[in-house]
Amino acid sequence: MEVSASILSVKEEESVHTFYRLELAKVDYFHIDVMDGKFVEEDSQEEMKKYADNLKNITNIPLDVHLMVDNVKKYVDIFSPNEPRCITFHFEAVKDKEEIMELINYIKQFSKVGISIKPETKIEEIYDFLPYVHNVLVMTVEPGKGGQELIPETIEKIKTLKKYIEENNLDTEIEADGGINLSNINELKNVGVDIAVVGTALIEAKDYKYMVNKLKE
Ligand code: DX5
Ligand code: ZN
Repeated sequence: MEVSASILSVKEEESVHTFYRLELAKVDYFHIDVMDGKFVEEDSQEEMKKYADNLKNITNIPLDVHLMVDNVKKYVDIFSPNEPRCITFHFEAVKDKEEIMELINYIKQFSKVGISIKPETKIEEIYDFLPYVHNVLVMTVEPGKGGQELIPETIEKIKTLKKYIEENNLDTEIEADGGINLSNINELKNVGVDIAVVGTALIEAKDYKYMVNKLKE
């Protein structure tokens, strides 16, 4: 299982040092949570753009961009110059099937594509798109802020998704995001999560290397 470090809660004055420590701890990705103040209440766009620019200068660890925004294309244009490994947008922000397919193809010019769903959205709603995306990001908390508790019902959803992916011979990877820590990581591993996004549990840990190793073991 890979670990994508959510840097949403990193304070600016500590950011360079924190990014360096995360790199030494060998996180697999830096997870960039872009919030527009519309799709979710918070607005993190300026800070996250600054962090993405900064990271591109100091590390080779790939960026994993999670767009919690209404206007997807606008933010794809803002973050694609940072050459992320993957850009993920929310199913709930678009919904119209044709528009979703257009966005998938648009993002593919720049990076891998992910589609994300909120906790209350049924997993079956995105089945049609699975052959065209690289990644499904299942929100295990309500998007909008870090430091929340994982919603247990979302694990059942991941199980269903994994089964569907296997039965249909797809190679879509599953990413889980929100409230992930040492007490629930094994459960996520067991249901087939490929990438765990970890924010608070990692950023607030004293020893990043120890925490990343523990999460992966
Ligand atoms: C929530 C974000 C998550 C989250 C992760 O809206 O998408 O990436 O902040 O942080 P923790 O691990 O604190 O839930
Ligand atoms: Zn996220």
